[in-house]
Amino acid sequence: MKKIALSLMALSLVLVYSCSKKSSPEKSTVNAESLMKPCYRCHGASLQGNSKTPALAGTKLQKDEIINIVKNGRGKMPAFGGDFSAADLSAVADFIHNYAK
Ligand code: HEC
Repeated sequence: MKKIALSLMALSLVLVYSCSKKSSPEKSTVNAESLMKPCYRCHGASLQGNSKTPALAGTKLQKDEIINIVKNGRGKMPAFGGDFSAADLSAVADFIHNYAK
């Protein structure tokens, strides 16, 4: 009987451990804040845009559209695909989306 109780305790410890591990947010190694530094020059310090450059704050673009434009460029918008990894692009797109809120 004691053995069963012990193994049950061990099992519940393992369960608690694996659950608490899952619920902690994944740490991102990407710092979107610093990746955004070159963008402010054209898009404005508050991403508000100007007469030549569209605002990014409040954008209606979908995440994959933002990723595409930043990766490949468009018109006078330079391509950043050479400098940014897929994770970087994703973090930048999230940053812009959260900025819009
Ligand atoms: C040299 C100036 C310049 C820099 C630097 C720049 N952009 Fe742009 N960006 C533009 C211009 C100009 C456009 C409009 C392009 C077009 O449609 O002709 C644009 C468009 C965009 C768009 C599409 C906006 C829309 O509403 O259509 C996104 C998203 C964007 N830029 C993100 C970024 C991000 C993220 C960075 C930094 C990693 C960045 N840009 C850096 C000039 C710049």
